[in-house]
Amino acid sequence: MNDEVNVWLEQVFVFLSKELSLLENELKKRLLSFTENRIDLHNIFTYFFEIRGKRLRPILVLLSAGLVREMTATSDRTATEASDTEIQLAAVVELIHNSSLIHDDIVDESSHRRGQKTMNHKFNNRIAVLAGDLLFSHGFLIMNKLEQPKISAIFTKTVETMCQSEINEIISPFTNFEQYIAHLNAKTASLMSACCKSGAILAGADEKSISLLGEFGTNIGIAYQLMDDYLDDEQPKNFDINILLQTKIYCEKAKKNLENFKDCEYKKHLLNLVRYVIIKSELKQEKTQDQIV
Ligand code: FPP
Ligand code: MG
Repeated sequence: MNDEVNVWLEQVFVFLSKELSLLENELKKRLLSFTENRIDLHNIFTYFFEIRGKRLRPILVLLSAGLVREMTATSDRTATEASDTEIQLAAVVELIHNSSLIHDDIVDESSHRRGQKTMNHKFNNRIAVLAGDLLFSHGFLIMNKLEQPKISAIFTKTVETMCQSEINEIISPFTNFEQYIAHLNAKTASLMSACCKSGAILAGADEKSISLLGEFGTNIGIAYQLMDDYLDDEQPKNFDINILLQTKIYCEKAKKNLENFKDCEYKKHLLNLVRYVIIKSELKQEKTQDQIV
């Protein structure tokens, strides 16, 4: 990835390095232990770690929880470190997310993701769909152990929304701007919003903060998917949309959602994620302009 873009994400990775390494250990411990002595399953889940992504959804959980902890810290009670429960929740969201991508690659008949063969291409559709189901159910297994009914309800509803929107896209594709944004919200932003809200809930946020962080997740999620469609040249052709402008508008909305939160490192890194989306989109525009010139 280009350095100019990467710098914003790198800062977040460095800031959360301890938590992200705990997350990696947790995922490895869980996925590789229940496949021990079962070489076939073991190969499948080893592959899961080879095609690892940016861990953006866990990052949203951890930064939102951290921001709330900072907000509630007083002079005689300083902000604490991420709890084990936050790491467990981060593992849950990564498992749900990856299960959705494995299923998406089957639906889209994609052969590659993140420069690697997709599960369906490397193994086959039958293995991939079941591996996706295994990741998904394992995510909910960890979730149940957290005994957080409010958070379980948020994610159950979110997954329902994601599946419905994927079915809708197949049977009745969107025909206007509003439907397009609603689709991006359902398939991508709803999970990001759930990550922010649940991180906030775990850290003991009040309703106002939960709602603002949920809106932040929605807005950065829509911007992120707009950017993804823009980079993949997948913007809708059947109605007018300036996709780069819309990406920036949703990024601005996301920034606004954080305005009332106290300035701190967690807020700074949530804003770095917004900057990453803006700069990555602008870079494509610059490249396109260079080609035209
Ligand atoms: C990527 O879209 C797809 C998603 C963000 C969500 C896919 C959701 C499902 C398949 C529903 C099933 C959900 C679960 C949790 C089992 P894209 O194809 O536009 O982007 P891509 O370029 O990353 O493939
Ligand atoms: Mg796809």
